[in-house]
Amino acid sequence: MKKNIIRNYLDHNLKKLEKKNFSNSRLPLSFAQYDSKDILNSINTLIKGWPTIGNEVKQVEKKIQRFLRIKNAIMLNSGGSANFLILYLLCSPYAKKEDKLHEGDEVITPAVTWSTTVSPIIQNKLVPVLADVNLSTYDININSIEKNISKKTKAIMIVNPLGHVCDMKKIQSICKKNNLLLIEDNCESIGAKYNNKFAGTFGKFSSISMYQSHHISSVEGGMILTNDDYYADILRSMRANGWLREVKNMKTRKIFLKSFRDIDESFMFPYIGFNFKPTDLSAALVKNQIDKLNEFINKRKFAARKIIKNLNKFDQFLYLPKEYSNIKNSWFTFPIVVKKNKFFTKKMLTNFLTKNRIDNRPIIAGNIADQPFIKKFKHKKKKLINAELVMNSGFFIGLNHMLNKKRVDYIIKVFNKFFKKTIKE
Ligand SMILES: Cc1ncc(COP(=O)(O)O)c(C=O)c1O
Repeated sequence: MKKNIIRNYLDHNLKKLEKKNFSNSRLPLSFAQYDSKDILNSINTLIKGWPTIGNEVKQVEKKIQRFLRIKNAIMLNSGGSANFLILYLLCSPYAKKEDKLHEGDEVITPAVTWSTTVSPIIQNKLVPVLADVNLSTYDININSIEKNISKKTKAIMIVNPLGHVCDMKKIQSICKKNNLLLIEDNCESIGAKYNNKFAGTFGKFSSISMYQSHHISSVEGGMILTNDDYYADILRSMRANGWLREVKNMKTRKIFLKSFRDIDESFMFPYIGFNFKPTDLSAALVKNQIDKLNEFINKRKFAARKIIKNLNKFDQFLYLPKEYSNIKNSWFTFPIVVKKNKFFTKKMLTNFLTKNRIDNRPIIAGNIADQPFIKKFKHKKKKLINAELVMNSGFFIGLNHMLNKKRVDYIIKVFNKFFKKTIKE
């Protein structure tokens, strides 16, 4: 009875939030994915007295493993932490000889990505080599990867951008030919598929993000995915102070316990540790959203396809997103790059969208080579023609599971209005 009252209260307030965020035809970049049941599940971890890492985290990890068909999903406090810990592990004494990265090794990564794809490369004393991207899909350009390979290249850290998946066949073949480790930053593309295999299951390691604006949300949160049990055990421990409690492998546990008999089992730290722990509070919030992931993706797909179909007539002026038949896109946002033309600039278009309450922002972090932080650190780049264009002429509008027909029609109407007003031939 009481539970129903609380649920009604939460439902009422979530409806109010929707009304507020979408008021006067406003279209926000994202909207809460959790419902009243998710909030209650989360609150329950507080009432049960153990809201930090526990059973809920384990259940979320199991669900993601099953969903993405991967052996190990290790939940952390963010996608950025996941990228950092993957590279830290590969530079550490725990890395297998064939995977070990050393100070000064080069890692090829796309120039158009988020700051915490590139920062962890630098933080681990490796050198990021920024490759150019393709327009319309914003994935790493294969020719650019090949041009940037040197004797020092040891790994490729690709990014599956904005729900799209990179050309995995070609990337895997480059990695094989040049003996390079493949890491996937899949923070923006959970649920996407390439040749019917999930993005994030191609690399030795991959990361996903469950940040608040993503497909599913634990507010803050991320995961490392890997099929390698040896590494998974160490990662589980390293994220949580480096303690033994998180080591699953019984053989490994026994070795440590036998070798360090005097140390209290609960307070033994076999590995170097961080506190990148997720909480049960977050895990309980996201747990049931995993069951709705396909539904969320389908709603985003409906919106994206309808917008593309209706804006295609302006393709002389705009690079619109592109779909490939072997890729199942998990539509993250709707990116647009304005082509050089005599009628309007990106700023004019984005100002018009903002005036009409369609929220917009730069594509990911634009061209990382232009961001202030990287200028203080060693990095390499050749000409980044498309990344520059993305930085100067690109933006995206939001896609989310709340984009119904009416809201999508409004987006199309605003674009039509802009072109009618701006293009006079
Ligand atoms: C490509 C990419 N990598 C990493 C991250 C970092 O994820 P988080 O915000 O969970 O740390 C993001 C965040 O959106 C991202 O887009």
